[in-house]
Amino acid sequence: MDGTSASDAAFWTRARRHMLRYGGEFVPFVAARAEGSFVYDAAGRRVLDFTSGQMSAILGHSHPEIVALVRDQIGRLDHLFSSMLSEPVVALAESLARHVPTLPKTMLLTTGGEANEAAIKIAKLVTGGWEVVGFAQSWHGMTGGAAAATYKAGRRGYGPQAIGSFAIPAPHSYRPRFGGIDWQAELDDAFELVDRQSTGNLAAFIAEPVLSSGGILELPRGYLAALKRKCEERGMLLILDEAQTGLGRTGTMFAFQHDGVTPDLLVLSKTLGAGLPLACVMTSEAIEQKAYERGFLFYTTHVNDPLPAAVGVKVIEIVERDRLAARAAALGARLRQGLEGLMARHDCIGDIRGRGLLLGMEFVADRRSKRPDEKLSDRVTDRALELGLSANIVRAGSSGGVMRIAPALTASEGEIDLGIEILDRAIADVARR
Ligand SMILES: Cc1ncc(COP(=O)(O)O)c(C=O)c1O
Repeated sequence: MDGTSASDAAFWTRARRHMLRYGGEFVPFVAARAEGSFVYDAAGRRVLDFTSGQMSAILGHSHPEIVALVRDQIGRLDHLFSSMLSEPVVALAESLARHVPTLPKTMLLTTGGEANEAAIKIAKLVTGGWEVVGFAQSWHGMTGGAAAATYKAGRRGYGPQAIGSFAIPAPHSYRPRFGGIDWQAELDDAFELVDRQSTGNLAAFIAEPVLSSGGILELPRGYLAALKRKCEERGMLLILDEAQTGLGRTGTMFAFQHDGVTPDLLVLSKTLGAGLPLACVMTSEAIEQKAYERGFLFYTTHVNDPLPAAVGVKVIEIVERDRLAARAAALGARLRQGLEGLMARHDCIGDIRGRGLLLGMEFVADRRSKRPDEKLSDRVTDRALELGLSANIVRAGSSGGVMRIAPALTASEGEIDLGIEILDRAIADVARR
């Protein structure tokens, strides 16, 4: 849309007339192009993208190698009949299996919700159960089974969710539910409740290793191993949803490697295509075999399509070659230090948390009560955008005053520092008003 910008009244008149609203208000910035860590409007005004688009563009925007790959691939092999395989698809499955040798079987899909849907269906089919447990602060997607396991937002107003959907609270280091109770006791208690409610048909637990939409809640060390044991004791499968944490963002290729716990099903999306629509489900030979024997059907238009698969192969190649997981750890340490500097200067910041380049900054009314200050975090977000930084609160549903920060893994040190500087100014401006 040449000639449009945020101030272009005609653009917004057309947008208001035709755009269906799906997550509150639209951001008052009209992107015309994006490159690296920046998004630009038609007038050339640039905004530093501290959320990697929708927590996906780990290589920054329009990475030259991805641009070249897509241009070439689309002219050779784009989309196929859903039962037809091709070289990029098998190459991506191979490449993923090199990283997770115990989960060598892969199917490629398009979005995170869809891939979680497939993982949940596999778990149901293979276990014979149909009850699914998730965290009470989770986000797994907007489609049926994924939405039934999403407790962060979006449950009201749509009628019944899948029967057999249970939630347990995720541990919260900054705001524990019960003072003096450790996470193991909380987990034991939660599963006791699950067991009381279950009709004996537990199929799976689905978890994000760092709950992102839930407010950047990192599972404490040892928690995933304990959760896996709970699953094994009940014949449930553990599904890990690494939509945001996969492909290096938290400092290891996958977040579960930090804990040394391999799930039964690993779901990747967002970061796998580095911003382009690509997702996958990975599982073991035994689970795949059983699902196959029981007639597993998840036949979609874009399953195992060659164009996005080729993108995935290139994304993994770049993440490995440029050691982007290690870079996320190093840049994350720099970002954290910067945010802790802000916390030292601004009383309204109650907590900094997260891992690698997936960090959260929580705004509170005061540090004693730790009462979340959602209005303040909204105002800082708005002011930061005016000053040239997009670092967003969770837009769909209440974020509890937590600003999520997830820059591209390819960001420069200077860009990390620039983001901190803009946040500093934005917080000071809002506090002054
Ligand atoms: C952890 C997690 N899983 C799944 C999803 C859903 O992915 P999609 O929006 O691609 O369906 C999201 C989206 O934010 C997510 O954060």
